[in-house]
Amino acid sequence: MENFGINPNINQAYTLPAAFYRSPTTFEQSKEQIFAQTWQWIEDVDVVKVPMQHYPFTLLKGVIDEPLLFTRNREGQLHCMSNVCTHRGKIIVEKPGRGRLLSCGYHGRCFQLDGTFKSMPEFKEAENFPSEEDHLTKIPFSEWMGMLFVSLNPKASLEEMTQPIRERLSWLPLEEMTYDASTSKDYFVNANWALYCDNYLEGFHIPFVHPGLNEALEFDKYDYEIFPYCNLQLSIGKEGEPCFDIPEGHQDFGKRVYAYYYWLFPNLMLNFYPWGLSLNIVSPLSHNTTKISFRSYLFPNSKMSPNESRLDDTEMEDEEVVESVQLGIQSRYYKRGRFSPTMEQGVHHFHSLIGNYMG
Ligand code: FES
Ligand SMILES: [Fe+2]
Repeated sequence: MENFGINPNINQAYTLPAAFYRSPTTFEQSKEQIFAQTWQWIEDVDVVKVPMQHYPFTLLKGVIDEPLLFTRNREGQLHCMSNVCTHRGKIIVEKPGRGRLLSCGYHGRCFQLDGTFKSMPEFKEAENFPSEEDHLTKIPFSEWMGMLFVSLNPKASLEEMTQPIRERLSWLPLEEMTYDASTSKDYFVNANWALYCDNYLEGFHIPFVHPGLNEALEFDKYDYEIFPYCNLQLSIGKEGEPCFDIPEGHQDFGKRVYAYYYWLFPNLMLNFYPWGLSLNIVSPLSHNTTKISFRSYLFPNSKMSPNESRLDDTEMEDEEVVESVQLGIQSRYYKRGRFSPTMEQGVHHFHSLIGNYMG
């Protein structure tokens, strides 16, 4: 396996080698090394709002492909577990619904809503039964901003990983945002998922690629902050552009903050605007195709709304360069690049984390 180690000193470091983006084998390895070990956005918590509700889902279709299940028990507690029957392996809950028990449609094995084995016909003579292995495996999950996250094998809790965001934005009503379907949409990009992230992680390209956005931002005030598992790009708006009304005493008070662009390793972007959040979920479909889901969440009583045409124009401009890079990195003459020490700290951070996770 290629060594993806990245020099921690950005002034000396080289970027990830082209092989990381173009090799199907590397993509295969990243499924377990990166995607099984990090937090993945699943859905809004509304899918299991009421007691006894069940919500089956496949974790990262085409990548992890793990059948899982959220339930809310009678007391209102949430659980996440494997959705595979411990008898002969049928999927237990095939579609969202409600019920006081989980029962497998193949031979009638029953589980409590927390995944504990309950009963099974025709098993009286079976010895050492039931055992620990007959319960459904519990899966680590977390709830934040009314959304559900899952990780098969997390290196740290979601709370810990997102602590810098929670602290910095504690004055915003993050738990009271509402999903806005009318301004949400999916995009498909013919490129490796990590190229899409690389592009997101620097504002270096804004004056070259995004004329509209560049009109709105004070480019010389664009700033980067790096945390263990997430990073921030702080953008300052020009006079006349909407900006956050930041309370006195806050570290950003007095700045005309246009957006807090947060990224959480490896594939989640949280763009906070004065109107709310534009969440971008980057889902790899294969080593060279990626789905990006843009989901808008509005702050309560916000008088502002997403600047849809600017978001959409910016996305189109980004997709065009990312797809061009996807072609470029196939070249026999491109091996790897270098980082701008002032403008590409975020990309360097991402590559360093990939290096760590890929081992
Ligand atoms: S596979 Fe579920 S009861 Fe047999
Ligand atoms: Fe961009």
